[in-house]
Amino acid sequence: MNFLLWQQYFLGNRDHFDHLEWKDSQTLTALEKQNISQSIRQFQRGEHSEGKHFLQFALRMQDAGYMNTVKLFIKEEQDHAAILGKFMETEGIPKLGRDWLDTIFRRLRKLTGLEGSVTVLLTAEIIAMVYYKALFNATRSAILKQICLQVLKDEEMHLRFQSYTLECLYKHKREFASIFSRTVHHVLMAGTIFMVWIWHYRVLRQGGYSFLQYAKEVWKEFTGCQHMITGKADNQPASSIKKKLIRESNWRA
Ligand SMILES: [Fe+2]
Ligand SMILES: [Fe+2]
Repeated sequence: MNFLLWQQYFLGNRDHFDHLEWKDSQTLTALEKQNISQSIRQFQRGEHSEGKHFLQFALRMQDAGYMNTVKLFIKEEQDHAAILGKFMETEGIPKLGRDWLDTIFRRLRKLTGLEGSVTVLLTAEIIAMVYYKALFNATRSAILKQICLQVLKDEEMHLRFQSYTLECLYKHKREFASIFSRTVHHVLMAGTIFMVWIWHYRVLRQGGYSFLQYAKEVWKEFTGCQHMITGKADNQPASSIKKKLIRESNWRA
């Protein structure tokens, strides 16, 4: 395992929200606010974590490089929560105290050790890749669009980071145990697709997704991660940056 490149990547990305132009922001329309408020509250809640259990699990790896990288990763996720929180404050949307879907994800992460935690996190991040695209399309607020775009850039790299970690962890397992873990991940992903649609379909629909389009796109991201986990696709940050820029320019077009 070598997390040096990942550590460098996260260190270089610490200013990821510095470019945001808060002054030019257009406030949400009444309809947008109605459509996205509850949903954005849940995602903001989900982004925030002190990462205590994740850090404890990471410590057991006895790999200082991984530990340092996880700390930077947790900080990046806290930035997502903070920036969404700031946006919500400017729009008068209150933060969510407790959310049962978030509680389920947190409990799953606590109960399942490092591999389970990374798997659950990756599942949520795969959903985020589609959700923030929908949110981007669902609003005319310039600042919210900027936030979505940056979160998408970050999350795309998180998918690579978690996939690389799982690849490293699976290498130490017997083949049947890896197959079992990946099967469980397929089931978790499928269940999450349904749960997230039930609770966030308004934003997803407003963002231009039917259920099938949403499920198909999430599954495409999931398949991409499976390829990275099994070593069939690149999961390192350096060579991915060029691809990321190409993908982003295609998406913007
Ligand atoms: Fe995030
Ligand atoms: Fe993430």
